[in-house]
Amino acid sequence: MDGFDPAQSFGPEVAQRYDDQLRGDEAETVDLLAGLAGAGPALEFAIGTGRIALPLAERGIGVDGIELSSDMVARLRDKPGGAALHVTMGDMARATAPRKYPLVYLVFNTIYNLLTQDDQVRCFENAAQHLTDDGVFVVEAGVPWAWLRGNQFVDVEYVANGEVVLDVNRYDPVTQILDENHVTLTNAGVRLGPISQRISWPSELDLMARIAGLRLVDRWGGWNREPFTARSERHISVYSR
Ligand SMILES: C[S@@+](CC[C@H](N)C(=O)[O-])C[C@H]1O[C@@H](n2cnc3c(N)ncnc32)[C@H](O)[C@@H]1O
Repeated sequence: MDGFDPAQSFGPEVAQRYDDQLRGDEAETVDLLAGLAGAGPALEFAIGTGRIALPLAERGIGVDGIELSSDMVARLRDKPGGAALHVTMGDMARATAPRKYPLVYLVFNTIYNLLTQDDQVRCFENAAQHLTDDGVFVVEAGVPWAWLRGNQFVDVEYVANGEVVLDVNRYDPVTQILDENHVTLTNAGVRLGPISQRISWPSELDLMARIAGLRLVDRWGGWNREPFTARSERHISVYSR
């Protein structure tokens, strides 16, 4: 997308509204991650506003984070318990957190925010560097076959009396880049929310893990450990040494 800067995708306006409409699967996400973390600590790549990290920390598990956007972290800091978490500001493909972790996790398609294959590989390598010997890296990402519908498509995200949100998409299968614009229409006007993502197949992510010295040990179709099938719209993948 011309002029798109990934670092600006989660600026002050997005951060302000980020938690207004939660996904609704936070409880089962935290349940599964808590089970994998054991006594912890856990490290969240792209911790954002703490949507998952804060309820995980409430379970008594120490949670650290890495995050690019100071606006998202400001929201995290404003929430109860948010000031106590250790967050390293920087790129999850490169930044170093202070400890080794039995659980490193990266949810909500955020691996795709890294726009090159090299950076996605680096992210797996960075996760591996942070794992204890028996630690696991958990990745949640949408599957391309459920998400992409040709090279251009529009999804209706939200319809209400005073507001409509459309997701306008253009996909380039050569670069695997999906340019997406969340277009919010109200009587007051139009608001654009651009983001680009590099969409990878699960098998490509598995090979990235192999390059980083990790192997796939589990893959589910949802946070309740639903089987991963041809109908799954996303995968929750668990990698270990
Ligand atoms: C969809 S949000 C997910 C936030 C949080 N993990 C959650 O589940 O609510 C994506 C987050 O990734 C962050 N992000 C994007 N690219 C990043 C990178 N290279 N390194 C660290 N954080 C990044 C954004 O700033 C944003 O906070």
